[in-house]
Amino acid sequence: MKTDKEVILNPSILARRELLKFIIASPFYGAMTGFPVPGFATPDRAIPETARQALNIFQIKRVARENLPIPVWHFIINGSDDGKTMASNRDVFDEWELRVRRMIDVSNIDTSVELFGDKFPSPIILAPVGAQQRIHPEGELATANAAAKRKQLMIASMMTSYSFTEIAAIGGPLWFQMYSSPYTEMMEHMLSLAEAENAPVLVLTVIRLLVATGKESAGFVVKQIKPACA
Ligand SMILES: Cc1cc2nc3c(=O)[nH]c(=O)nc-3n(C[C@H](O)[C@H](O)[C@H](O)COP(=O)(O)O)c2cc1C
Repeated sequence: MKTDKEVILNPSILARRELLKFIIASPFYGAMTGFPVPGFATPDRAIPETARQALNIFQIKRVARENLPIPVWHFIINGSDDGKTMASNRDVFDEWELRVRRMIDVSNIDTSVELFGDKFPSPIILAPVGAQQRIHPEGELATANAAAKRKQLMIASMMTSYSFTEIAAIGGPLWFQMYSSPYTEMMEHMLSLAEAENAPVLVLTVIRLLVATGKESAGFVVKQIKPACA
Protein backbone atom coordinates (compact mmCIF):
# COMPACT_ATOMS: atom_id res chain seq x y z
CA MET A 1 0.00 0.00 0.00
CA LYS A 2 1.48 3.34 -1.05
CA THR A 3 1.33 6.26 1.31
CA ASP A 4 -0.31 9.49 0.18
CA LYS A 5 3.13 11.10 0.10
CA GLU A 6 4.46 8.46 -2.32
CA VAL A 7 1.39 8.89 -4.48
CA ILE A 8 1.78 12.64 -4.68
CA LEU A 9 5.46 12.27 -5.49
CA ASN A 10 4.73 9.73 -8.19
CA PRO A 11 2.33 11.09 -10.81
CA SER A 12 1.90 7.72 -12.53
CA ILE A 13 0.42 6.20 -9.33
CA LEU A 14 -1.89 9.18 -9.07
CA ALA A 15 -2.97 8.75 -12.68
CA ARG A 16 -3.62 5.02 -12.14
CA ARG A 17 -5.81 5.81 -9.13
CA GLU A 18 -7.76 8.39 -11.10
CA LEU A 19 -8.20 5.92 -13.94
CA LEU A 20 -9.45 3.21 -11.53
CA LYS A 21 -11.91 5.64 -9.95
CA PHE A 22 -13.15 6.56 -13.40
CA ILE A 23 -13.60 2.92 -14.45
CA ILE A 24 -15.37 1.96 -11.24
CA ALA A 25 -17.76 4.88 -11.57
CA SER A 26 -18.56 3.95 -15.16
CA PRO A 27 -21.74 2.16 -16.21
CA PHE A 28 -19.66 -0.19 -18.36
CA TYR A 29 -17.93 -1.53 -15.28
CA GLY A 30 -21.33 -2.31 -13.82
CA ALA A 31 -22.46 -3.98 -17.02
CA MET A 32 -19.28 -6.10 -17.17
CA THR A 33 -19.27 -7.21 -13.55
CA GLY A 34 -22.93 -7.17 -12.68
CA PHE A 35 -22.10 -5.16 -9.56
CA PRO A 36 -23.90 -1.94 -8.82
CA VAL A 37 -21.43 0.95 -8.94
CA PRO A 38 -21.78 4.38 -7.41
CA GLY A 39 -22.11 6.41 -10.59
CA PHE A 40 -24.50 3.94 -12.16
CA ALA A 41 -26.56 3.17 -9.13
CA THR A 42 -27.99 6.57 -8.36
CA PRO A 43 -31.77 6.25 -8.17
CA ASP A 44 -32.20 8.95 -10.78
CA ARG A 45 -30.25 7.26 -13.51
CA ALA A 46 -30.33 3.50 -13.16
CA ILE A 47 -32.88 1.28 -14.84
CA PRO A 48 -32.41 -2.21 -13.36
CA GLU A 49 -33.07 -5.19 -15.61
CA THR A 50 -34.28 -7.44 -12.82
CA ALA A 51 -35.92 -6.68 -9.48
CA ARG A 52 -32.86 -8.16 -7.77
CA GLN A 53 -30.62 -5.55 -9.36
CA ALA A 54 -32.66 -2.65 -8.00
CA LEU A 55 -31.10 -0.90 -5.07
CA ASN A 56 -34.36 0.65 -3.97
CA ILE A 57 -38.00 0.95 -4.88
CA PHE A 58 -37.46 4.21 -6.72
CA GLN A 59 -35.41 2.44 -9.39
CA ILE A 60 -38.31 0.08 -10.03
CA LYS A 61 -40.38 3.18 -10.65
CA ARG A 62 -38.22 3.86 -13.71
CA VAL A 63 -38.90 0.35 -15.02
CA ALA A 64 -42.63 0.92 -14.60
CA ARG A 65 -42.41 4.23 -16.45
CA GLU A 66 -40.76 2.47 -19.41
CA ASN A 67 -43.16 -0.47 -19.53
CA LEU A 68 -46.64 0.57 -18.42
CA PRO A 69 -49.28 2.15 -20.62
CA ILE A 70 -49.43 5.88 -19.84
CA PRO A 71 -52.91 5.88 -18.20
CA VAL A 72 -51.91 3.01 -15.88
CA TRP A 73 -48.68 4.79 -15.00
CA HIS A 74 -50.63 7.92 -14.07
CA PHE A 75 -53.16 5.87 -12.09
CA ILE A 76 -50.35 4.57 -9.91
CA ILE A 77 -48.05 7.52 -9.72
CA ASN A 78 -50.45 10.36 -9.04
CA GLY A 79 -52.03 11.21 -5.76
CA SER A 80 -55.45 12.76 -5.50
CA ASP A 81 -56.00 16.33 -6.61
CA ASP A 82 -52.84 18.40 -6.12
CA GLY A 83 -50.87 15.45 -4.74
CA LYS A 84 -49.90 17.48 -1.66
CA THR A 85 -50.26 14.59 0.79
CA MET A 86 -48.14 12.39 -1.42
CA ALA A 87 -45.44 15.06 -1.69
CA SER A 88 -45.35 15.74 2.04
CA ASN A 89 -45.22 11.99 2.78
CA ARG A 90 -42.15 11.81 0.57
CA ASP A 91 -40.56 14.83 2.27
CA VAL A 92 -41.02 13.26 5.69
CA PHE A 93 -39.69 9.92 4.45
CA ASP A 94 -36.57 11.68 3.16
CA GLU A 95 -35.83 12.87 6.70
CA TRP A 96 -35.22 9.27 7.78
CA GLU A 97 -31.79 7.79 7.50
CA LEU A 98 -30.21 4.48 8.32
CA ARG A 99 -28.18 4.83 11.48
CA VAL A 100 -24.82 3.24 10.87
CA ARG A 101 -23.35 1.41 13.85
CA ARG A 102 -19.93 0.10 13.03
CA MET A 103 -18.15 -2.83 14.69
CA ILE A 104 -21.42 -4.47 15.69
CA ASP A 105 -22.22 -8.03 14.66
CA VAL A 106 -25.27 -7.80 12.40
CA SER A 107 -25.02 -11.34 11.04
CA ASN A 108 -27.96 -12.42 13.19
CA ILE A 109 -30.53 -9.71 13.63
CA ASP A 110 -34.21 -9.92 14.46
CA THR A 111 -36.44 -7.50 12.55
CA SER A 112 -39.64 -9.35 13.41
CA VAL A 113 -42.76 -7.63 14.71
CA GLU A 114 -45.91 -8.93 16.35
CA LEU A 115 -49.26 -7.57 15.20
CA PHE A 116 -52.60 -8.76 16.55
CA GLY A 117 -50.99 -11.88 17.95
CA ASP A 118 -49.16 -12.92 14.77
CA LYS A 119 -45.44 -12.63 14.21
CA PHE A 120 -44.02 -11.30 10.92
CA PRO A 121 -40.37 -11.36 9.81
CA SER A 122 -40.23 -7.59 9.34
CA PRO A 123 -42.42 -4.52 9.70
CA ILE A 124 -42.69 -4.31 5.91
CA ILE A 125 -46.34 -4.74 4.97
CA LEU A 126 -47.81 -4.69 1.47
CA ALA A 127 -50.43 -1.95 1.61
CA PRO A 128 -53.71 -2.60 -0.16
CA VAL A 129 -53.43 -1.80 -3.86
CA GLY A 130 -56.46 -2.48 -6.03
CA ALA A 131 -56.75 -3.60 -9.63
CA GLN A 132 -53.21 -4.95 -9.92
CA GLN A 133 -54.00 -6.78 -13.12
CA ARG A 134 -53.85 -3.40 -14.81
CA ILE A 135 -50.16 -3.49 -14.01
CA HIS A 136 -49.39 -7.17 -14.72
CA PRO A 137 -51.51 -10.10 -15.97
CA GLU A 138 -50.83 -12.07 -12.79
CA GLY A 139 -51.85 -9.09 -10.68
CA GLU A 140 -52.40 -9.79 -6.99
CA LEU A 141 -51.47 -13.46 -7.44
CA ALA A 142 -47.88 -12.49 -8.30
CA THR A 143 -47.76 -10.09 -5.36
CA ALA A 144 -49.20 -12.70 -3.00
CA ASN A 145 -46.71 -15.31 -4.21
CA ALA A 146 -43.77 -12.97 -3.63
CA ALA A 147 -45.05 -11.98 -0.19
CA ALA A 148 -45.78 -15.58 0.81
CA LYS A 149 -42.26 -16.70 -0.15
CA ARG A 150 -40.89 -14.38 2.53
CA LYS A 151 -43.83 -14.71 4.90
CA GLN A 152 -44.44 -10.97 4.56
CA LEU A 153 -47.88 -9.68 5.35
CA MET A 154 -50.06 -8.62 2.43
CA ILE A 155 -53.25 -6.63 2.75
CA ALA A 156 -55.59 -7.53 -0.09
CA SER A 157 -57.80 -4.71 -1.30
CA MET A 158 -61.48 -5.33 -1.84
CA MET A 159 -60.93 -3.89 -5.34
CA THR A 160 -58.65 -6.70 -6.51
CA SER A 161 -58.54 -8.19 -9.98
CA TYR A 162 -58.49 -11.71 -8.51
CA SER A 163 -60.91 -12.82 -5.80
CA PHE A 164 -59.90 -12.89 -2.17
CA THR A 165 -60.41 -16.67 -2.28
CA GLU A 166 -57.84 -17.02 -5.07
CA ILE A 167 -55.35 -14.78 -3.29
CA ALA A 168 -55.83 -16.59 0.01
CA ALA A 169 -55.22 -19.95 -1.71
CA ILE A 170 -51.57 -18.95 -2.13
CA GLY A 171 -51.23 -19.37 1.59
CA GLY A 172 -49.24 -16.35 2.81
CA PRO A 173 -50.22 -14.14 5.73
CA LEU A 174 -53.16 -12.06 4.50
CA TRP A 175 -55.42 -9.33 5.81
CA PHE A 176 -58.45 -7.98 4.06
CA GLN A 177 -59.14 -4.29 3.34
CA MET A 178 -62.55 -2.77 2.76
CA TYR A 179 -63.66 0.73 1.93
CA SER A 180 -66.41 2.17 4.05
CA SER A 181 -69.58 2.20 2.00
CA PRO A 182 -73.28 2.88 2.44
CA TYR A 183 -74.02 -0.34 0.52
CA THR A 184 -74.30 -2.61 3.54
CA GLU A 185 -75.32 -5.72 1.61
CA MET A 186 -72.25 -5.49 -0.57
CA MET A 187 -70.08 -4.88 2.49
CA GLU A 188 -71.55 -7.93 4.23
CA HIS A 189 -70.91 -10.06 1.16
CA MET A 190 -67.29 -8.94 0.94
CA LEU A 191 -66.86 -9.56 4.64
CA SER A 192 -68.24 -13.07 4.34
CA LEU A 193 -65.59 -13.86 1.70
CA ALA A 194 -62.86 -12.70 4.06
CA GLU A 195 -64.37 -14.68 6.95
CA ALA A 196 -64.58 -17.80 4.80
CA GLU A 197 -60.82 -17.60 4.31
CA ASN A 198 -60.19 -16.91 8.00
CA ALA A 199 -58.63 -13.51 7.37
CA PRO A 200 -57.56 -12.58 10.88
CA VAL A 201 -57.71 -8.79 10.49
CA LEU A 202 -60.01 -6.44 8.63
CA VAL A 203 -58.54 -3.12 7.52
CA LEU A 204 -61.17 -0.45 7.04
CA THR A 205 -60.26 2.43 4.74
CA VAL A 206 -62.39 5.43 5.55
CA ILE A 207 -62.60 7.71 2.57
CA ARG A 208 -64.52 10.56 1.12
CA LEU A 209 -65.35 9.61 -2.41
CA LEU A 210 -64.85 12.43 -4.82
CA VAL A 211 -64.33 12.92 -8.48
CA ALA A 212 -60.68 13.72 -8.96
CA THR A 213 -60.12 16.79 -11.04
CA GLY A 214 -57.73 14.94 -13.31
CA LYS A 215 -55.71 18.11 -13.67
CA GLU A 216 -52.64 16.44 -12.19
CA SER A 217 -52.69 13.78 -14.80
CA ALA A 218 -52.63 14.42 -18.49
CA GLY A 219 -52.86 10.63 -18.92
CA PHE A 220 -56.44 10.42 -17.68
CA VAL A 221 -59.06 10.88 -20.32
CA VAL A 222 -61.90 9.60 -18.19
CA LYS A 223 -62.23 11.16 -14.76
CA GLN A 224 -61.85 8.69 -11.96
CA ILE A 225 -63.43 8.16 -8.61
CA LYS A 226 -60.47 8.30 -6.25
CA PRO A 227 -60.14 8.22 -2.49
CA ALA A 228 -59.47 11.58 -0.88
CA CYS A 229 -57.46 9.91 1.85
CA ALA A 230 -56.72 6.43 3.04
C1 LIG B 1 -52.46 2.28 -7.51
C2 LIG B 1 -52.93 2.35 -6.09
C3 LIG B 1 -54.02 1.62 -5.68
C4 LIG B 1 -54.44 1.66 -4.35
N1 LIG B 1 -55.51 0.90 -3.97
C5 LIG B 1 -55.93 0.94 -2.69
C6 LIG B 1 -57.03 0.14 -2.27
O1 LIG B 1 -57.63 -0.59 -3.06
N2 LIG B 1 -57.40 0.23 -0.96
C7 LIG B 1 -56.77 1.05 -0.07
O2 LIG B 1 -57.17 1.08 1.11
N3 LIG B 1 -55.70 1.79 -0.43
C8 LIG B 1 -55.28 1.77 -1.71
N4 LIG B 1 -54.20 2.52 -2.08
C9 LIG B 1 -53.49 3.30 -1.07
C10 LIG B 1 -52.26 2.53 -0.56
O3 LIG B 1 -52.63 1.37 0.15
C11 LIG B 1 -51.42 3.41 0.38
O4 LIG B 1 -52.15 3.72 1.52
C12 LIG B 1 -51.00 4.67 -0.28
O5 LIG B 1 -50.40 4.41 -1.52
C13 LIG B 1 -50.00 5.47 0.62
O6 LIG B 1 -48.88 4.71 0.86
P1 LIG B 1 -47.46 5.04 0.16
O7 LIG B 1 -47.10 6.40 0.64
O8 LIG B 1 -46.56 3.94 0.65
O9 LIG B 1 -47.74 4.97 -1.32
C14 LIG B 1 -53.76 2.47 -3.41
C15 LIG B 1 -52.66 3.21 -3.81
C16 LIG B 1 -52.24 3.16 -5.13
C17 LIG B 1 -51.04 3.98 -5.53
